[in-house]
Amino acid sequence: MIQEIKSIRPIVDDSLKQVFIETYGCQMNVNDSEVVLAILQECGYALCDSIGKADLILVNTCSIRENAEQRIFGRLDIFRLEKKRRKGLIVGVIGCMAERMKDQLLEHPVVDIVVGPDAYRSLPELLLAVNPGNKQIDVKLSRTETYDDITPVRMDKNGVSAYISIMRGCNNVCSYCIVPYTRGAERSRDPQTIIREAKELYANGYKEVNLLGQNVDSYRWKGESENDNVDFAKLLEMVAQIAPDLRVRFSTSHPKDMTADVVKMMAKYPNICKHIHLPVQSGSSDMLLKMNRKYDREKYLSQIATIRELIPDCSITTDVIVGFSGESEEDYQLTLSLFEEVKFDSAFMFYYSERPGTKASRHYPDDISIEVKTERLNKIIELQNKLSLESNKADVGKVFEVLIEGASKRSESQLIGRTSQNKVCVFTTDKHKAGDYATVRVTSCTSATLMAELI
Ligand code: 5AD
Ligand code: SF4
Repeated sequence: MIQEIKSIRPIVDDSLKQVFIETYGCQMNVNDSEVVLAILQECGYALCDSIGKADLILVNTCSIRENAEQRIFGRLDIFRLEKKRRKGLIVGVIGCMAERMKDQLLEHPVVDIVVGPDAYRSLPELLLAVNPGNKQIDVKLSRTETYDDITPVRMDKNGVSAYISIMRGCNNVCSYCIVPYTRGAERSRDPQTIIREAKELYANGYKEVNLLGQNVDSYRWKGESENDNVDFAKLLEMVAQIAPDLRVRFSTSHPKDMTADVVKMMAKYPNICKHIHLPVQSGSSDMLLKMNRKYDREKYLSQIATIRELIPDCSITTDVIVGFSGESEEDYQLTLSLFEEVKFDSAFMFYYSERPGTKASRHYPDDISIEVKTERLNKIIELQNKLSLESNKADVGKVFEVLIEGASKRSESQLIGRTSQNKVCVFTTDKHKAGDYATVRVTSCTSATLMAELI
């Protein structure tokens, strides 16, 4: 008997019901949309590439900052026009905003279905029950759901790099953060299902897996016996051993939990990429305490020292929030000086956005004016641009092995590859294609890109 092999790429078939999925927010959300597509394909939907063709529009949402949510309401207005044109079109809001704003969304005239991050398995049922007078909602959070038996249907364009969620939820109650409320408690996924998924990707031509969790360092699987227990360092090793030409990346690391074991494991395997994303959030220990990050400036810097010592060529990137409650000029200067000291290769920079329901919203006033927040953000972006340029300039003349992701926007003969350090490299070749490795020498750079030649 021939067993049916499930496609890990989207089914394109005009004769089926069509779903259009729009994704906002983090990498975890991108991967969740792939899980959702797998569930929908099972019940007879095929993916389409425009809202104009869709029978069902799903928007996978983010609540991390207020402007992320405002954007979604803007999209709902667009869907309203489409709905006026085509009766029967169903619009669903899924993801973090569905969890946070459940009732408000259900009352929205455009929205038919509201589904939270742990309830995607009920989508088929909700879709059967939904009709114009009968909106559907499921926002139950789970202590156990990891979707570990579902093979995500990959929506990336290049077929080279894929996300694998290794855990869900978050147990760190950072005072500013909405995620523990929208994604629930932390739970780790069975390592065997992670390995199976990574092997399947490799067999399908993928050359890079990106292991995702809100805090990968707290990944923990309790096996039948002590010997079967798996922590994050061990999981990294298991994935790295699948194949030497399968690159392994991961995010996000937490400064309070990252261990030397993890860094040593990165050093041990050439295919574990030399890049750590280690969000600092602030350079001021007072702010870190108020943020409930459970480390101080010194601890953060000692983690950086460990990385530098064990992996001298490791790139380090970060997230930072300026203008958190009570942030003085002195606190802010400490963040700038920490940036100068660490010399991050790149950074995601935000100003504080108060989120209803968080500890900060209940206890700490959002008391930094928008003018000061904007000024502080602009200044730190300027500083980071300088640091990114310095970091890239230091690579000029060096040789890197890059994994090719596809053609550059400018020309077909110019390809984009990524270094182990996660830097984007542009070079010309007619010998390679997406998914190949190439060895290149960096010839020049901007703050965002390395320009290189094939050697
Ligand atoms: N306001 C601004 N930025 C935030 N982040 C998380 N919550 C907030 C908030 N309320 C940032 C943090 C986190 C990144 C994903 O988003 O820097 O690491
Ligand atoms: Fe991802 Fe956080 Fe946004 Fe949810 S709120 S989508 S977890 S970034």
